[in-house]
Amino acid sequence: MKSTKELIAFLQEAVNHLEFKSQPAGLYEPLAYTMSLGGKRVRPLLCLMAYNLYKEDVETALNPALGIELFHNFTLLHDDVMDRSFMRRGKACVHVKWDENTAILSGDALQVVAYQYVAQAPAAVLPACLELFSRTALEVCEGQSYDMLFETKKDVGEEEYLEMIRLKTAVLLACSLKMGAILAGASEEDAQHLYDFGIHIGVAFQIKDDLLDVWGDPAIFGKAIGGDIMCNKKTFLLIHALKNADDKQRESLLHYITSDDIDRAEKVQAVTALYEAVGVKEECEAKMLYHQQLAMDALDALSVSEEKTVHLRELAESMMKRQM
Ligand code: IPE
Ligand code: IPE
Ligand code: MG
Ligand code: MG
Ligand code: MG
Repeated sequence: MKSTKELIAFLQEAVNHLEFKSQPAGLYEPLAYTMSLGGKRVRPLLCLMAYNLYKEDVETALNPALGIELFHNFTLLHDDVMDRSFMRRGKACVHVKWDENTAILSGDALQVVAYQYVAQAPAAVLPACLELFSRTALEVCEGQSYDMLFETKKDVGEEEYLEMIRLKTAVLLACSLKMGAILAGASEEDAQHLYDFGIHIGVAFQIKDDLLDVWGDPAIFGKAIGGDIMCNKKTFLLIHALKNADDKQRESLLHYITSDDIDRAEKVQAVTALYEAVGVKEECEAKMLYHQQLAMDALDALSVSEEKTVHLRELAESMMKRQM
């Protein structure tokens, strides 16, 4: 079995060797730009780790794993337009460095390239891989649709939020793991347990992302702080702040999240101060821990020895502690 370090090095080497067509430059340059900016490569790593629970020849899973990472990067190009973000992985977003139309079309091309890579799965498992990947891709769109819809919806509850992040974020992590299992010929039960593990680490991953969007260090996080506050995103933080606030705090929060003409620094500072006064960090952390535990339970149910799952457990833990 390969170490996590070895798998990351193997993946990074493969990402560095990705080649895109050069013309038209306005279409393909943003692809090379995006893929060269780094990123944690968590999704393809999960795919290879799941595969490696059953088989040693991880090269077999490489192209589908790269396909998932390419797809993830496509979602980021469009997400940054939708979220009006300007910084990604410490650099200018594609729609800022070029323009919105470029981000839309290069994103479209990147999604097609992603499919080309997933389609290189061995013939025997190709239908299952494509079915899983396509279903997941649609679910991500559904999640992104709820995410945008909720910007202007005032009464988003915790359950709706959890379903939204399951769709926009968790299913792609879960798909990565399940695809690794399918490629390795694992049993359907194991593939499902790995999928469930991915859903729970994915939910915790997005709650952590919401936290970092408020209290992260932009130099490490690579994104501008306060983007969610500026978009009135219904994050776990906001939902719980509204629930726990006293009348005066709630009135103030509602004022900020329904006004779009407030200066960025003022709005981000005021909403952050309200989050701190109401004390929502602890609830986020408790929710993350809860899903972390459910993730571990899913690994316990696998047919492989517990020893083999150590790398996945450690990765899940490091994802909860991440600062980027
Ligand atoms: C960002 O994903 C989008 C979310 C689902 C929060 P990552 O945090 O995995 O981004 P990179 O690929 O490491 O930049
Ligand atoms: C991530 O949501 C979901 C997708 C990109 C599909 P966010 O909008 O929170 O991700 P970041 O914070 O921009 O990376
Ligand atoms: Mg978004
Ligand atoms: Mg975003
Ligand atoms: Mg975010």
